Amino acid sequence: MVDLIGQYEKIKPEIDRAILDVISSSAYINGPEVKSFQAELEKYLKIKHVIPCANGTDALQIAMMALGLEPGDEVITASFTYVATAEVIALLRLKPVLVEVNPKTFTIDPVAFEKAITPKTKAVVPVHLFGQCAEMDKITAIAKKHNIFVIEDTAQAIGADYTLPDGTVHKAGTLGDVGCTSFFPSKNLGCYGDGGALFTNNDQLAAKIRMIANHGQSVQYYHDEIGVNSRLDSLQAAVLRIKLRHLDEYAAARNKAAAYYDKAFQGHPGIVIPAREPQSTHVFHQYTMMLTSASRDQLREFLKEKGIPSMIYYTVPVHLQKAYTDDRYKTMNFSSTEDLCRKVISLPMHTELSEESLKTITSSVLEFLNK
Ligand SMILES: Cc1ncc(COP(=O)(O)O)c(C=O)c1O
Repeated sequence: MVDLIGQYEKIKPEIDRAILDVISSSAYINGPEVKSFQAELEKYLKIKHVIPCANGTDALQIAMMALGLEPGDEVITASFTYVATAEVIALLRLKPVLVEVNPKTFTIDPVAFEKAITPKTKAVVPVHLFGQCAEMDKITAIAKKHNIFVIEDTAQAIGADYTLPDGTVHKAGTLGDVGCTSFFPSKNLGCYGDGGALFTNNDQLAAKIRMIANHGQSVQYYHDEIGVNSRLDSLQAAVLRIKLRHLDEYAAARNKAAAYYDKAFQGHPGIVIPAREPQSTHVFHQYTMMLTSASRDQLREFLKEKGIPSMIYYTVPVHLQKAYTDDRYKTMNFSSTEDLCRKVISLPMHTELSEESLKTITSSVLEFLNK
């Protein structure tokens, strides 16, 4: 699904030098590379504070801890997401409240979000799934009206631009109270191991996040809060500094591949291509389309025989997962989410897709569907 080796080969001299420099500096933890990466990402995102941490799941957890959410508080998020989003809510003994998505964009349905708000609701986590932003103007307006924190999960959409109704353009993850991202290797900005970060414009919140990510201390050995140990390694920061310089070019390569897929599949009665929303750019973490009638399993088998990988993100929505069952879901509508789980399929998407590969993939999909 991804070609990380091909991508590495193109930037090998820069990466190898940066890694060797860290090794010979011995500043493996919180070294200058981490601070430089933090400053460079702040500049790229046009945000006051970036706080690097160990992974995207930790970023979400630390955000919820820093916002002072307490056991029993309800946190609303989309059921059509990677489990990490809901997992940290439950782990902190908060109550995950899963809601329906907009089937066109795969992101949280603002109407379903507002309907799920109760006096116990303290936060919402819009997930910018597959690389396109959720409807942030509507979500932030609803959140403001009900005095609810907005924690953006931008693990799949770093670099996407969102245009607000007033015409101002903002990076994904910088519109809510706090943004959380992952630098998992296959992410659009991925390192060579685990990594993550939080973003905020709020000075006080940033200080609290920094403290919680560092064992609850802002002065060494004085622990004012219960915290965690969540750090980005210097080696990963060194890799990320180089890859950040290429991030926009990577997004352009992903968009070029997506445009090829779109052109090949547009208008086909068996395929619904991913929607592009005018207010958000798409950075195509995934190219995920919907099959209207064909057997997804058979298509996957057909592609596999030709050596073409495909994936299903996600087969089972979170509200139907054993660990997340809740009686309240019995009376809620999840028809779009459940339909998506039955019909979506993701095709290979990365920065190194050649026209030849795209031709083979698209002609194979069409060969199967037109049989
Ligand atoms: C939407 C979403 N949220 C959170 C995460 C968690 O990130 P990590 O794997 O770095 O913990 C991921 C990563 O897969 C993700 O896709």
